[in-house]
Amino acid sequence: GRVAVLYGGSSAERSISLKSGAEVLKGLQRANVDAFGIDLCAEGADPLQQLQDAGFDRAFLILHGRGGEDGTMQGVLEIMGKPFTGSGVMASALGMDKVKCKQIWSAAGLPTPMYAVPDEKTDLQQMADQLGFPMIVKPAHEGSSIGMSKVDSAGALEQAIGEARQFDRAVLVESWVSGPEFTIAVLNGRALPVIRLETPHDFYDFDAKYQANDTQYHFDSGLTEGQQTELKQLAEQAFDMVGCSGWGRVDVMLDQQRGFQLLEVNTLPGMTDHSLVPMAAREAGISFEELVVTILRGSL
Ligand code: DAL
Ligand code: MG
Repeated sequence: GRVAVLYGGSSAERSISLKSGAEVLKGLQRANVDAFGIDLCAEGADPLQQLQDAGFDRAFLILHGRGGEDGTMQGVLEIMGKPFTGSGVMASALGMDKVKCKQIWSAAGLPTPMYAVPDEKTDLQQMADQLGFPMIVKPAHEGSSIGMSKVDSAGALEQAIGEARQFDRAVLVESWVSGPEFTIAVLNGRALPVIRLETPHDFYDFDAKYQANDTQYHFDSGLTEGQQTELKQLAEQAFDMVGCSGWGRVDVMLDQQRGFQLLEVNTLPGMTDHSLVPMAAREAGISFEELVVTILRGSL
């Protein structure tokens, strides 16, 4: 049947989704899939109307961020009776919420950095005493490192929280893990080769992700074989505990004292020409065309 590639959307990650969507569409077409793209919310269009008018049999979802990655679009497609790629409603909603994921992982005994979720009543001094400097401040429901900052001193904390709050009412403050950072793509429940990220920036921020050419991606993870196995298992478990399906990507840091620490799971990771899932797939001998077709076959 006809496959609609749903991309764009109106989240803060719209520009990334436009790029991911264009790549996915080209990949599917190269693989002779009868696919077309729908830029949801293009020029203020009504996305529900767009979906109803389009005429398609299944959807390849490649929307990033809220309104697309967070379970809402998955719910719409569920109600329309259209099969779609990737995680379902619940896992998508959980995956978008960094705090909920941490709670689930902690309850399952999986490691994740110490954190707080400050509100107006929180004593920031007390929070700082608990977490220690540096800290990393994040909107709880964003992607692509939008609204994130590293905080080295008490003076900068309030401003960092305010900045994150521009994107989200819920703000997550985590203890800093100095790294290295790893990312693990998961395809049909199995981890693909581990990628180690190296950036001269403080952390793997928006610029390092999409713009800078000084970010380095290594398949030589610098880990022992035992550590590699542990890391892949951790990623698979993290994915599984949140109830994810199909494909996704788990981000992990290695703390010198505490070992691997889960940062987040991405249920609709980037598929741009700078993105990590296609890179990991290629390392595993899976071409971009094979990757998108495999994801499509897994549609619910
Ligand atoms: N949120 C971006 C698209 C990613 O995880 O790749
Ligand atoms: Mg993310």
